[in-house]
Amino acid sequence: APIMPPDLSKCYPATAPALDNKCCPPYDPGETISEYSFPATHLRVRRPAHIVKDDQEYMDKYKEAVRRMKNLPADHPWNYYQQANIHCQYCNYAYHQQNADDVPIQVHFSWIFLPWHRYYLHFYERILGKLIDDDTFTIPFWNWDTKDGMTFPAIFQDAASPLYDPRRDQRHVKDGKILDLKYAITENESTASDSEIIRENLCFIQKTFKHSLSLAELFMGDPVRAGEKEIQEANGQLEVIHNAVHSWVGEPSGYNENMGDFSTAARDSVFFCHHCNVDRMWDIYRNLRGNRVEFEDNDWLDSTFLFHDENEQLVKVKASQMLDCLNPTKLRYTFEQVPLPWLGKIN
Ligand code: C2O
Repeated sequence: APIMPPDLSKCYPATAPALDNKCCPPYDPGETISEYSFPATHLRVRRPAHIVKDDQEYMDKYKEAVRRMKNLPADHPWNYYQQANIHCQYCNYAYHQQNADDVPIQVHFSWIFLPWHRYYLHFYERILGKLIDDDTFTIPFWNWDTKDGMTFPAIFQDAASPLYDPRRDQRHVKDGKILDLKYAITENESTASDSEIIRENLCFIQKTFKHSLSLAELFMGDPVRAGEKEIQEANGQLEVIHNAVHSWVGEPSGYNENMGDFSTAARDSVFFCHHCNVDRMWDIYRNLRGNRVEFEDNDWLDSTFLFHDENEQLVKVKASQMLDCLNPTKLRYTFEQVPLPWLGKIN
């Protein structure tokens, strides 16, 4: 059977010492769960973070939207920290599976990693747009699969901006340091030159796609079904690359806040920018496979999640619902086409 959403009335202390194990949302017993009516608005186009940097009008909107989100009452489901806590709830065991009460829900390390995060971003993006009354608004993507995007995105580095977060590894986020997609907190920094690291990153992405094109488990993660606990080694290679970016941004000490710890990661706005590129990598993967369904398995297709949408409705969504059409167009967004320097021969 597929993974089902939790019974929201039962939220347990999370295994999240960085937050004193607290990340449960306010609970409203009268709230009903609706089917999500997929938006019929025009297509939104997500753009690279290093490009939108120079679009003053866009940047003003983005900052204003996040500022408004931060200023909402602390218990509002759209409040910035409530939105971040969603990640903690589903990653740090605050909820248990409805049909298997002693098994926690974990949205990493398996084939639900990509669909769950896609919906998370989708709702987050539309809520930000709603807050500034702009139905074209998109989150930018951290284009770390191209040379110009392989540094920490400058738009998150202005200390006076609501997009700023002081809890980062300052050695990495400052001064154009090149991102290392094989970075691990426990190991020494790479001593390779910038151009070598860039080349290694591109080769790593190329190899990841090449190796996993015919077998979706390798890219997306292994199955997880109702009543099963996740297995850490079951994650897909895209998730592994994604972890390196989390570790590289988070503080090198403590619990590696914010980005380096599940419970706090989404408190840094760059989280959504990073995940936007992860989502884009999945989109490219799909296209390269001729938009074939990754898993013809109802336990994947019927995996079900709950979110608050941009109308403050609590809605239920299934993995399959985002896959009905080519690309994620059912969710009414797409990605600006940019060069893929890892796809062909790497110089
Ligand atoms: Cu839910 Cu980047 O992790």
